[in-house]
Amino acid sequence: MRPDTSAPVRLEDYRAPAYRISTVHLDIRLAPRSAKVRARLALERASDTAPGTPLVLDGDDLRLTALSLDGRVLADGDYTVAPDRLEIVSPPTGPFTLEIETTLDPDANTKLMGLYRSNGTYCTQCEAEGFRRITYFLDRPDCLAVYTTRIEARVGEAPVLLGNGNPVESGPVPGTDRHYAIWHDPHPKPAYLFAMVAGDLACVSDSFRTCEGRDVALNIYVEHGNEGACDWAMDSLKRSMRWDEEVFGRAYDLDVFNIVAVSDFNMGAMENKGLNIFNDKYVLARPETATDQDYAGIETVIAHEYFHNWTGNRITCRDWFQLCLKEGLTVFRDQEFSADMRSRAVKRIADVRLLKSHQFPEDAGPLAHPVRPRLYHEINNFYTATVYEKGAEVVRMLKCLIGDEAFRAGMDLYFRRHDGEATTIEAFLACFQEASGLDLEQFALWYEQAGTPVLKVDSVYEKEAGRLTLTFRQQLAPSPKQPDKKPMHIPVRIGLMGENGEELAPAAITGADTTGDVLHIRTPVQTVVFSGLTERPVPSLLRGFSAPVSLKSDLNESDLLFLAANDKDPFNRWEALQSVVMTALIAATAGAARQEAVTVSPALIAAFAANVADESLEPAFRALCLQLPGEADIAREIGHDVDPDAVHAARTAFRRAIADDIAPTIRATYEAMRDEAEFSPDARSAGRRALRNTLLDYLGHGSDPAGNLLVQTHFDASDNMTDRFAALSVLTHAALPGRDAALAAYEERYRAVPLAMDKWFMVQATAPASSTLERVRQLTDHPAFSAGNPNRVRALIGAFASGNQSQFNRADGSGFDFVADFARDLDRRNPQAAARMMSAFRSWRALEPGRRAHAEAALRRLAAETDLSVDMRDIVERCLQ
Ligand code: BES
Ligand code: ZN
Repeated sequence: MRPDTSAPVRLEDYRAPAYRISTVHLDIRLAPRSAKVRARLALERASDTAPGTPLVLDGDDLRLTALSLDGRVLADGDYTVAPDRLEIVSPPTGPFTLEIETTLDPDANTKLMGLYRSNGTYCTQCEAEGFRRITYFLDRPDCLAVYTTRIEARVGEAPVLLGNGNPVESGPVPGTDRHYAIWHDPHPKPAYLFAMVAGDLACVSDSFRTCEGRDVALNIYVEHGNEGACDWAMDSLKRSMRWDEEVFGRAYDLDVFNIVAVSDFNMGAMENKGLNIFNDKYVLARPETATDQDYAGIETVIAHEYFHNWTGNRITCRDWFQLCLKEGLTVFRDQEFSADMRSRAVKRIADVRLLKSHQFPEDAGPLAHPVRPRLYHEINNFYTATVYEKGAEVVRMLKCLIGDEAFRAGMDLYFRRHDGEATTIEAFLACFQEASGLDLEQFALWYEQAGTPVLKVDSVYEKEAGRLTLTFRQQLAPSPKQPDKKPMHIPVRIGLMGENGEELAPAAITGADTTGDVLHIRTPVQTVVFSGLTERPVPSLLRGFSAPVSLKSDLNESDLLFLAANDKDPFNRWEALQSVVMTALIAATAGAARQEAVTVSPALIAAFAANVADESLEPAFRALCLQLPGEADIAREIGHDVDPDAVHAARTAFRRAIADDIAPTIRATYEAMRDEAEFSPDARSAGRRALRNTLLDYLGHGSDPAGNLLVQTHFDASDNMTDRFAALSVLTHAALPGRDAALAAYEERYRAVPLAMDKWFMVQATAPASSTLERVRQLTDHPAFSAGNPNRVRALIGAFASGNQSQFNRADGSGFDFVADFARDLDRRNPQAAARMMSAFRSWRALEPGRRAHAEAALRRLAAETDLSVDMRDIVERCLQ
């Protein structure tokens, strides 16, 4: 904890550290209740620091048990110490060595930050500010040092001892039941990338030869019994390593790359140098326990953490305001990797769906912040969809504006110029400005201004003149602390579709700079004229979602359905259909509030039918086209006075209408997508399952009992988790007769597999039934549930709060109260997890007045508590602002 917890950290207050630490020698002697950490730091005053300036080191909950400077024990007056701070009053003017001993209690560490034990395995998590829970240090990302780590533990308790970098030496400690290992990491790094692991773990090994000829030992460490579930993770790792060489020219730089899977972990995974630590959910996969989505998730997370080795580790952040420098860029890189491994179009649609469902609501509510924030109370609360997903979009826009070649040249320059440094967004952008010659000053506003720009487009076609005029109007609403906004530099990728489905090429474009088919939109109102056209085109705007904006075009339903069937850009085909569906769902919601029956226009029904049956399209793409926007998406588009029950009723009726109107087509395609071959997680097979299971959802929610029955058959016949869980979800959410028996059978089968039980918790927590809240309450007492494990908590309570619109937002307020109470208790144990859970409240102001009042009361009740963590208080107070 920071000394004055109410004082925010500001970007403008950044100062380089007064002292430098060049080397760190750690000697860690492990025991469950008492681990001793000796840290020997080589320190030096920075040249612009006045001699005699005190050295102030960060701590968090630390107990100092010894301290000496240049080999001499310090006297009382030479230092002051508190759990969160160690000050050396007057350090030597020249280089000196500080030796600090702290004593930790890993078993008591429920925050899962610093050194803790998970299922008997010692592990660490240091990002963002966890290293200060291990020893006193300059715990900031611009303090880069070379680490040597000696780890010692009882052989029986921890036969495996792992650290950063390369192994140097290991052996028994003579005359004891203990042993040790020494690791050395030659690459200077910030403390947040430090890690160690010690435990009784099984190891799965492989190797990789880099393009530079280095032989790298690859190891994945898991709990005994899970060795058979690592193949996919290992395969993903090797493909990531090769891809980074081929696409970014980046090779691995150590002799070993270790991954450890642990079951108690706040986040998905962590990129510690040479020793990635993973939530086991992102390592372990067997057809029997993991869905296709899990396989894809593992591939992404493995790639992401591996890619950090260059974007994050070799080049790190100067301060935490620059978090998007590593996270946004690395998400962009993992997105590109997955696009190359699978279908680019399908991947782009999935990423945009995620952006719209997670980042857009954040940007539209009280928690809105810029991709690079200027102020924080608690950095843990800024690992957000905005920093990550919008941060990745900003990199993607940059590539779109300057073109592929200049982008690669800019990346190369960035790696060459800043290798080994802790740097900033400005330095990153300067590389692309130099490589492309494009002025990026206005573009840099994407890092500064919060909120999703609205981009309105009006079109006029003059037949005689053969001219299309598009008028772009951009608007950016005020957001917390940003009342006035400047116009942004928006890349709009565009195509003009002719009547016969061919692209039309205009003779000239005036009114905007272009890069290939990308328009540069830079002013509040910008008129772009396409001349030399021989027929009226339908403009296909914002192809590939070339900018994270909310597009409002004047295209009518028939133009959009034309694009849905004909656009050359697959993303826009999907988007065009979605936008027609969204308009219809919003109208249906208004109707539902007036108790009107929902009808679906014949043209829309026809578009769905055409899609289901179109064998020229890949199944995964068809599946995405058939998936209706979620209830939260509809609520977001409505934007104010939302009644979640009306949204739910409208969406349910809409889905039933489609299911009933095109039942034979659905049924026939469902049958055609059946695969007899053995399960394989590849993209093609996964796509067929995705389409089949999307159709199953319609079958289960339609009126035809025979269709409903297929869901039960699907469940009974399933031989892999993807199909089994898809059927269980439909049975549960449609409340079909076989539901209880299926839930019981699943529980019986998987009771000893925690990750599979998470799905069981989740499917029940997201059921749109009025009994769900009570059921969730009961499930907190289930033997497989544990409030101390972040995966369990997310699966049950997190899923209810963030994945169940109608029941979390119950009209009587009991959903809000339940989540607020749970988060309040969780906060005492794990503030980071509790604060994350509370982000479910981020859209409370958009609710209708009754629910809004209940949500506000729940938030105010929390705000009145006196002993909230900094994490929780920050979220609760910003929600109320
Ligand atoms: N550096 C983060 C892990 C992290 C996040 C540490 C927050 C401390 C606080 C890691 O690289 C990461 O971003 N992990 C993501 C998954 C990734 C695929 C986006 C995660 O953990 O969710
Ligand atoms: Zn990351």
